[in-house]
Amino acid sequence: MLVPAAVAVANGGGRSHDTSLRALGAQQGLRIGTAVDAAQLGSNKAYTGIVADQFSAVTAENAMKWDAVEPSQGVHNWKAADDLVKFAQQNGQAVRGHTLMWHNQTPGWLTTGVANGSITDAQLRDILHQHVTDEVTHFKGKVWQWDVVNEVFANSWETPQADGLNRDDFWVKHLGSGVIADVFRWAHQADPKALLMYNDYNITGEDGTNVKFQAVYDFVKNLRKQGVPIDGIGEQGHLDTQYGFDAQRYQADLQAYGDLGLKVAITEADVRTFVGNSTDQVPTDALAQFAQPYEFSELLKGCQLVSQCISFTAWGVYDGDSWIPGTFSGEGYGLLYDVNLQPKVAYSTLQQDLKLAAGGHHGPAGSGN
Ligand code: G3I
Repeated sequence: MLVPAAVAVANGGGRSHDTSLRALGAQQGLRIGTAVDAAQLGSNKAYTGIVADQFSAVTAENAMKWDAVEPSQGVHNWKAADDLVKFAQQNGQAVRGHTLMWHNQTPGWLTTGVANGSITDAQLRDILHQHVTDEVTHFKGKVWQWDVVNEVFANSWETPQADGLNRDDFWVKHLGSGVIADVFRWAHQADPKALLMYNDYNITGEDGTNVKFQAVYDFVKNLRKQGVPIDGIGEQGHLDTQYGFDAQRYQADLQAYGDLGLKVAITEADVRTFVGNSTDQVPTDALAQFAQPYEFSELLKGCQLVSQCISFTAWGVYDGDSWIPGTFSGEGYGLLYDVNLQPKVAYSTLQQDLKLAAGGHHGPAGSGN
């Protein structure tokens, strides 16, 4: 029911009574996105309605990852990803493509082949090139931003290579640091109009240091100097209330990337906390009910205050479909909707932040490319 209005607003149509996140974001030229679970799209009506009504950008949580799109070598399965792209087109949403080169969720045939020596490093490079070309070509003209390379930098508590990369990263280890520039070049060849992003976590000081930020900043600055087609930085934005959050450093770091001539996007926002159990996900500490929306709001505001920030994406719709309980034992409550798909305080807080900034300086939504 909201779709035509939302499309109009996302295109700058201006419907001030529409208080959906997407409509409010559009007034500031900011796309508000969510990661989408392919299994629930269409089958879960309430879920599907929220995705359509509230968001102007979608990311496939898993459906565009390599293991999903090429389960056997040379045999592609685009169905789930194609369905999401179609849904996005029908609902006036931009698509964030996630992700082309990552150490995780690579197909079994590839990791097995590398482990048993039947795939040499030279062949691995060709296979990666083929994968990037196939996937970007398949979605040519339909993906707004690609997370081209994901999570290749060392964490601040690890010993990096001299260039800041994680020496144990699967791709860096087998193909060397130079593969990063190449993957951006291959993606650009396949779709010259898509925005090409480097995507990672803790790259705006969330872990209490700016070590990882500095490594990414220096590396990407150098890529730009060499003319590598990289358009932006995806800051994932996975927070945990137990650690606190330095919003000033976060904003300054986002701005520093922006000042390199890059766009920035918040790509996987969630704020987790300790919960009684993973079914209900009620915070154990009463104060977490304030900290969770507060930190979510700080994440959004940093993006709103940096004019190069083009989208703000939550990593999932509701607490019942979040990756958090499965990964961080005892934690949850990370998203904007609760386990029953009801909007939480974090939702109304973001709504308020967007209302306050309406008419701000970002420019028309989706005009980033
Ligand atoms: O597809 C299989 C299915 O066949 C099988 O029956 C089922 C049984 O567990 O597992 C399914 O795979 C799961 C997959 O999600 C799809 O549902 C994997 O076990 C599970 O590990 C995987 O988790 C995803 C995780 O990335 C993998 O690393 C999460 O949903 C997804 O939210 C998460 O997202 C990542 C971003 O891509 C990158 N940044 C960090 C973020 C959080 O980890």
